[in-house]
Amino acid sequence: MMNIQQLKEQFIKIYGEGEIRTFHSPGRVNLIGEHIDYNGGYVFPCALEFGTYGLVRERNDNIVNLASTNFDLKVSVDINNISFKEEEDWANYPKGVMKVMLEKGVRLKGMDILISGNIPNGAGLSSSASLEVLIAVIVDTLFNGGTSDRVDLVKISQKAENTFVGVNCGIMDQFAVGMGRKNQAILLDCGSLSYSYANVDLGDNTLVIMNTNKRRALNESKYNERRAECDEALVILRKEKPISALCDLTSEEFDKLEDVIENSKVRARAKHAVYENERTKRAYECLNKGELKEFGKLLVESHNSLRDLYEVTGKELDTIVEESLKVSGCIGARMTGAGFGGCAIAIVKKSEVDSFMNRIRENYSKLIGYEPSFYLSGIGQGTEEVK
Ligand code: GLA
Repeated sequence: MMNIQQLKEQFIKIYGEGEIRTFHSPGRVNLIGEHIDYNGGYVFPCALEFGTYGLVRERNDNIVNLASTNFDLKVSVDINNISFKEEEDWANYPKGVMKVMLEKGVRLKGMDILISGNIPNGAGLSSSASLEVLIAVIVDTLFNGGTSDRVDLVKISQKAENTFVGVNCGIMDQFAVGMGRKNQAILLDCGSLSYSYANVDLGDNTLVIMNTNKRRALNESKYNERRAECDEALVILRKEKPISALCDLTSEEFDKLEDVIENSKVRARAKHAVYENERTKRAYECLNKGELKEFGKLLVESHNSLRDLYEVTGKELDTIVEESLKVSGCIGARMTGAGFGGCAIAIVKKSEVDSFMNRIRENYSKLIGYEPSFYLSGIGQGTEEVK
């Protein structure tokens, strides 16, 4: 990991001397409310302390140069001619954001950019959303005086991922990255985009992020498959009740209607969405009232629903969560993000964190065949210029 001074030296090596501005954009974890951002539900994510740095300098032409300390590949692009290119790999994220901004009429000129990320790739901690919002904020700050509405920049970033990169994600990741606040989680109603912040006071406990180190291989196709199953359920339920999204239903309403969905898998997906939405609202209240045991129980219920009804966990995530719950001092654990690998979170007594991690490392390795990784991150601030 490089510090900002080292990054500046690196920048000068690539682009020469001159003024440099530095920005930081966090990764995120979702505390609860999984796979319901695209079902009009509530999610409860927070930004992390680690993320992606972007160092930048304006140019007097229309060329954007993109370099990264994480990848050898450097890309130069003329802003009047931006298109997706498979071989340009990571650079497609910044290119996508710039393209969407230009289409919206945002002013944009040439830049020299150096990116440096601390978010483990493919771990489900939103390294791509972090990079997208970073670019949106850089462009807005440099060329529009930082006057854009932050939620608009979040939407632009999501649109870039959907239409340029081609991943049909919801809005949660970009929202958490762009709107995050230190020590607070965001309760976001993805139907209306209204939101409120909650202090994350875990008392004697702390958040442990556990990476299964299972790469999320089939992730994108499975993700889109789940979305399609939810859409199918919505079409059927709408014949019975005028709803605009699955999470418009309460669990009581769903229980009465569920038999109209004949396909048991589709019914299970919809059930997860409706119940997860209610769990998320309860979890927010529990956290606000300091009812941490109850909060932990809701995390476990969420994981079980993602395992049994939504079927997005898999052996590695189930193992790491099961093993976590066996350790005294752990009051709750669940997968976080899209699933099929990636990370889980656990709420663990501060005084027992070291022994917790040792036990999980040992037991998980025995059962799965390789080690997990752990990250202890506080809750960080959304994308910002570092002065
Ligand atoms: C991924 C997507 C999000 C959300 C989660 C699941 O992180 O990018 O939009 O759907 O999965 O909650």
